[in-house]
Amino acid sequence: MATTLAFDVYGTLIDTNGVTEVLRERMGQRALSFSRAWRDKQLEYAFRRTVMGEYADFAVCITDALDFTARAHGVTLTAAERDRLLATYQRLPAFQEARLALQALQEAGYTSYAFSNGSRETVSKLLGDNGLRPYVTDIISVEEVQAFKPAPQVYNHFLERAGRRADETWLISSNPFDIIGASAGGWKTVWVRRLPGAVFDPWGGEPTATVASLTDLLEVLPSPG
Ligand code: LAC
Repeated sequence: MATTLAFDVYGTLIDTNGVTEVLRERMGQRALSFSRAWRDKQLEYAFRRTVMGEYADFAVCITDALDFTARAHGVTLTAAERDRLLATYQRLPAFQEARLALQALQEAGYTSYAFSNGSRETVSKLLGDNGLRPYVTDIISVEEVQAFKPAPQVYNHFLERAGRRADETWLISSNPFDIIGASAGGWKTVWVRRLPGAVFDPWGGEPTATVASLTDLLEVLPSPG
């Protein structure tokens, strides 16, 4: 049995709070709460679009969520500020340990994929800019099925594309909703609990393993097979 790794991108390999510095220039101390609200709203829009059968590129969810979050915070962004924030989101940094962790997994013989709500083009650029692209075999985007995680067809599509079985496939994600979605499809999962205060949902099962950072993956995964 060959162990295959499917890495979530936003929040797992790529740090969505990377936009906070730019926000800080504009709104000072409210930057972190704005950044978190923006991220939560993106996901809400992705979930709602899937339930409604109204798929759009994740970039649309990101843009609409920015406009909502600005309104909700009583912030009027100029066109230039809005463009700059959206451009920053296209150039988010990787988490500091991501490259070395992916490299170590590759050297240990694991096959890794990027598996994201983001479009193939956007994810390809984010991984490329951060030096991560050589460590993933392929990028599998939900755009291929026009629905967002955690819709079951998204996880099934990954298995078809990668030619793998659920019980040999591990989702690596810091997003509990993603872990629960993969578990429902019979996958194994690792929750990357980056903040000690992060809370897992009280339903949908527990992750197979939990780590504090990508560096610890080698300790909890079975052999690459
Ligand atoms: C992704 C989001 C869910 O990259 O983090 O798919």
